[in-house]
Amino acid sequence: MLLFTKPRARFRYLCAPKLEVMELTNYGHSCVSVKMNGKNILFDPFVSGNPLAGELDIQKIPADYILVTHAHGDHIADLEVIAKRTGASIISNFEIVSYFEKRGIKGHPMNIGGCVNMPWGTVKSVLAIHSSEFPDGTYGGNPGGFVVWNDKFCFYHAGDTALTMDMQLIPRTCPPLNLAILPIGDNFTMGIEDAVEAAKMIECKTVVGCHYDTFGYIKIDHQYAKSAFSTAGIKLLMPGIGETITV
Ligand code: NI
Ligand code: MN
Repeated sequence: MLLFTKPRARFRYLCAPKLEVMELTNYGHSCVSVKMNGKNILFDPFVSGNPLAGELDIQKIPADYILVTHAHGDHIADLEVIAKRTGASIISNFEIVSYFEKRGIKGHPMNIGGCVNMPWGTVKSVLAIHSSEFPDGTYGGNPGGFVVWNDKFCFYHAGDTALTMDMQLIPRTCPPLNLAILPIGDNFTMGIEDAVEAAKMIECKTVVGCHYDTFGYIKIDHQYAKSAFSTAGIKLLMPGIGETITV
């Protein structure tokens, strides 16, 4: 039992993080940024190709780390430009990190189930049910999501995924979630009803919807989405593109 006498570093925050103010900026689709200990943690940069992102200028998006859920174009299109301008490192699966390393971008490779401690928090790579291939046809490894926490808050970015029973493992293996970013656009990912079930499985009462409205296939009824979540006792936030919210 000697192995277990020393708690593993990744569990140092397993007691509920005390929710201080969590600041999240929505850049549209699945691209959000969260401030953690003064660092800008950017997810799935896709802005210039987003018909809804209008005036947003990718030259002004700050990033210290870029977390990438999978290799589809609507999650990586602006990665290279932003990473080269900011010097941000990426965190993603091995295949995606290798792909961008060849293009001069440094990164930290992970795979599903693993955790890494960064100076600003802990990142856990979790399952997503989806696919992952670069726009040029390169294999993009397995798609994933991330649970990210420090001593202040804990959140989940689901990436593109179907509802899956594996989501039940998140509350059993990670600190309690203060917020979850879940796809609600249907067709390529969970739709509204399945995302409500996902929120119940992960035991999270505050959800930021993502991956909706960007293209014709994923246009949704906002009123219906809000009411479906509120009926289940869950708050659905749908911040505007470019909007920063504090939770
Ligand atoms: Ni995708
Ligand atoms: Mn997508």
